[in-house]
Amino acid sequence: MYELFVNGDRIGDLELTPGFTAYRSRLQVQPYDVGGALGPGANAVEILLSDGWFRGRHGFERAADGFGDRTAALLAIEVALQDGRSMTVTTGPGWWSRPGHVVAADLMDGQRTDLRLTGAASLDEPGWSPARPVSHGLYARRDRLLLTEAPPVRSVAELRPVRVARLDAETVVADFGHNINGRVRLSGLGPRGTEITLRHGEHLDADGRLDTEHLRAFVFTTGERLPAGQIDSVVSAGRPEDVFEPRHTTHGFRYVEIHGHPGPLGADDVTAVEVRSDLAATGRFACDDARLEALHQAAVRSFQANACDIPTDCPQRERAGWSGDWQVYVQAAALTHDVAGFGAKWLRDLAADQWPDGTVPNYSPNPSGPGPVAGSFSDTLHGSAGWGDAAVLVPWELWRAYGDLDLLERQYDSMRRWVERAATAAREGRHPARAAARPRPAPHERYLWDTGAHFGEWLEPGVEPALGDGTDHGAVATAYLAHSADRLGRVAGLLGRTADEERYARLAHAARDAWQREFLTPDGDLVIDTQATHVRALAFRLVPGELRDRVAGRLAALVEAAGHRVGTGFLSTGLLLPALADTGHLDAAYRVLLSTGVPSWLEMLDRGATTIWEWWDGVQDGRARGSLNHYSKGAVVSFLYTHVAGLRLPECPGLDEAGYRRFIVQPRPGGSLTWARAEHRSPYGPIRCHWRLEREALELTVDVPPGTQAEIRLPGGQVLYRTAGRHRVRARALPTSEPD
Ligand code: BGC
Repeated sequence: MYELFVNGDRIGDLELTPGFTAYRSRLQVQPYDVGGALGPGANAVEILLSDGWFRGRHGFERAADGFGDRTAALLAIEVALQDGRSMTVTTGPGWWSRPGHVVAADLMDGQRTDLRLTGAASLDEPGWSPARPVSHGLYARRDRLLLTEAPPVRSVAELRPVRVARLDAETVVADFGHNINGRVRLSGLGPRGTEITLRHGEHLDADGRLDTEHLRAFVFTTGERLPAGQIDSVVSAGRPEDVFEPRHTTHGFRYVEIHGHPGPLGADDVTAVEVRSDLAATGRFACDDARLEALHQAAVRSFQANACDIPTDCPQRERAGWSGDWQVYVQAAALTHDVAGFGAKWLRDLAADQWPDGTVPNYSPNPSGPGPVAGSFSDTLHGSAGWGDAAVLVPWELWRAYGDLDLLERQYDSMRRWVERAATAAREGRHPARAAARPRPAPHERYLWDTGAHFGEWLEPGVEPALGDGTDHGAVATAYLAHSADRLGRVAGLLGRTADEERYARLAHAARDAWQREFLTPDGDLVIDTQATHVRALAFRLVPGELRDRVAGRLAALVEAAGHRVGTGFLSTGLLLPALADTGHLDAAYRVLLSTGVPSWLEMLDRGATTIWEWWDGVQDGRARGSLNHYSKGAVVSFLYTHVAGLRLPECPGLDEAGYRRFIVQPRPGGSLTWARAEHRSPYGPIRCHWRLEREALELTVDVPPGTQAEIRLPGGQVLYRTAGRHRVRARALPTSEPD
């Protein structure tokens, strides 16, 4: 990670540069105009380097030196002189280096800073030695150095503490009101030599002290629990004007516990700086139930805190680009933010990390690079169904939302290689339990994917997570094979690859057939009687059309038996409410959405969540569990747009429909809502969709941007097509229990 200074001035407003990519293949470079910082005569150019993601730690194993064990910088300054001549200054022999005032910096551990070591850059100072040029075979190829299409990471907001509490003579806790990704800026650092420590976290114990026990990652291989990290420290140089802001790390936090500040610590001395990808906000949701608005806000905050050049699972414990998390959330993200460039960048990392056999790592960037590294435990888990499917489903969602055909073209090979790899695994392996029960494989088993490492549905309420225990996850994996093959076939069609279009449609059909033969009884019941299996059957259209109602009825019954609470896990929680609402069970969908108690979204909020939790019981009896800032369960906010407000994209948009060129407006009032509104800044301009119940009538206002067409589906079945302009429509409102 670097910061650039010219004559002492920090250049640019970007943070955590050069950002996080699959460094073994791709490294971002940033261009700056430094003209204003240069002067006549000698100019001093300094680069402050730290470990960053390259040499520092992240992920659930937090191995150091993930990408390499040496830091380096590459710079070129091109100067056009007034007399028409030009010159170029580049890094190379003749540069000098020395240890700086950032004594240690790591994205998990935090940053240690000794301000006594700052000072003039003069080469007359002691401590300099010739910089060692490194010949980086890796980056010698210019095509590995790239300008990014993703919006940069910046400091986007500053938060004042809502409360500062003194715990004892040495210790103070500041509460910034909600979770963010960022860091704390601190002033009033006291006399020279004063050492101040800042610990960051998301939870306070009963005594008001910071509690980070729940953030200590569990290491599967050793059973050990890692320290929670997120600790910055600073040694004061005694200059009253000094301000500490650790620019070579960020943390996921709401609270900071400050130890050793000489005080008095005024509210002006402590500021939280929110650091994240500077994504344009594109979506707004409002309705007359404040709890749903709060849920929307919590999900948006979680996403924002996890958008840090890559989409991460959580900003404190792992900060890894877990593919499954982004796969389940990308639709919601694309409703609330412009994630076109952000998503496209990450897909390049995913493709760069894909193994020769098509395996997609469960997170990207992956330090191991495009293949497994001997002895790495995490490398034995890659290619999990639902996670690896991000290779197909993320580009698919981005296509729906932005209509960028070039992205599909660029990712096509990666998508295809993933699906082929899953199909090969299905063809070549059999789960030992199935092989024992049925020594001769049934013909459909060629398309049954029941081997390999999978997380499965993962984290269903009441089910303890188990990894690598040999569980048969064939129902989940085969479902994803069918679904991804279907989407890939459609993409092939869009790209004019007719042979592939047919091939993958056939593969999807065969995988669906295998799924039915294995997991659907002749009576039309699902063998695995869980909410998640029913949700997937409906959402991925795995059951024959004539059985949809029956399966939907069973899902509604399961949901009712659970007291209208979520019973799904990681993969299908975001799909649950649409699966209910789209099959005649809108009422049940609203009851789940508005339910309280564990597990439910509103219970998280009732218990004080400001971002979405990893576990439904993230805080129980005052104790925290797991990450309190994990966006995956927040995928439910899609439903607020697509069903509650009623603004959605066609399921499979055609060439001239994607990117909101055609969209559907179909409000689905429910609960006790009397109005709802969604706004979305589409690539064609702002779309607004606002409904209000007036006695028995539904009054709907829709803003349609130029170049697009809205298909307005009214209660009772009437369909209107509208082009640019504001449209007001009145229709008879239906009770929510009535199917469309
Ligand atoms: C992460 C997840 C991720 C999962 C894989 C967790 O440790 O935080 O969100 O998808 O592992 O099961």
